[in-house]
Amino acid sequence: MSELKILISRDQIAARVGEMGKQLAADSANQPVIFVGVLKGAAIFLSDLLRSVQMDATFDFIGVASYGALLSPDQARRRVWDSTGEVRLTKDVDQSLRDKNVILVEDILDTGLTLTFLKRLLLGHQPKSFRVAVLLDKPSRRKLAVEADYVGFTIPDEFVVGYGLDFDERYRNLPDICVLPNVGPG
Ligand code: IMP
Repeated sequence: MSELKILISRDQIAARVGEMGKQLAADSANQPVIFVGVLKGAAIFLSDLLRSVQMDATFDFIGVASYGALLSPDQARRRVWDSTGEVRLTKDVDQSLRDKNVILVEDILDTGLTLTFLKRLLLGHQPKSFRVAVLLDKPSRRKLAVEADYVGFTIPDEFVVGYGLDFDERYRNLPDICVLPNVGPG
C-alpha cells in the first residue's frame, strides 16, 4: 500500500462530517428526514453522518452501476475514470419516499451522471423535500450541470480511494482518503 498518499486524513474527515451533521440538522428544522445512501461507496460516510445528526432520522440504500462489458485492467482503469453515462439501478429503495424529507448521500460527485440519474429517479417519488449531501466533489470533471447542497471537501482531479471509495472493490476499508496514482486520463 506504499503507493497510496493520504489526501484527507481520518481526523479531517471526522471533523467535517460532524460539521455537516450539525448543518443538516439545523436546516431540517425538527422535521423527520430519511437519508438515502448510494451503494456501496456512501455506506461508510452515511453511517458516520447519521450518527452525527441529532434529529429524527431513518435511512435506506439505493444501488447503481455503470453498464459495461468485462474489461482488461487497463481498460477498466480508464472506464472508472471516463464513466460512460450508462447508469442503471441495481437496488431500489425499500419504501415510498412520497411526502418525505429526503437527503441523498453520495460518496463523490464527479461527472454528475450518477447524481443526475438518481435525482430524476427520486424526484419521481414526489418527496416533500430533496437535498443532496456528498462527501467529495470534483467540479473540474463535471459533464452535466448538477450540484450538491452539502459538500464535505472539494478535491482536485485525482482518483481517490478509502472511506468507502474503491478501485475495483479494493481500498474501501482504508480510514483515510488517499490518492491512487496511475488511474487517470491517458
Ligand atoms: P459520476 O457519475 O461521474 O459523478 O461519478 C460518481 C461515481 O463514480 C461515484 O459514486 C464513484 O462510484 C465513482 N467515482 C468517481 N470518481 C471516483 C474516485 O476518484 N474514486 C472512486 N470512485 C470514483
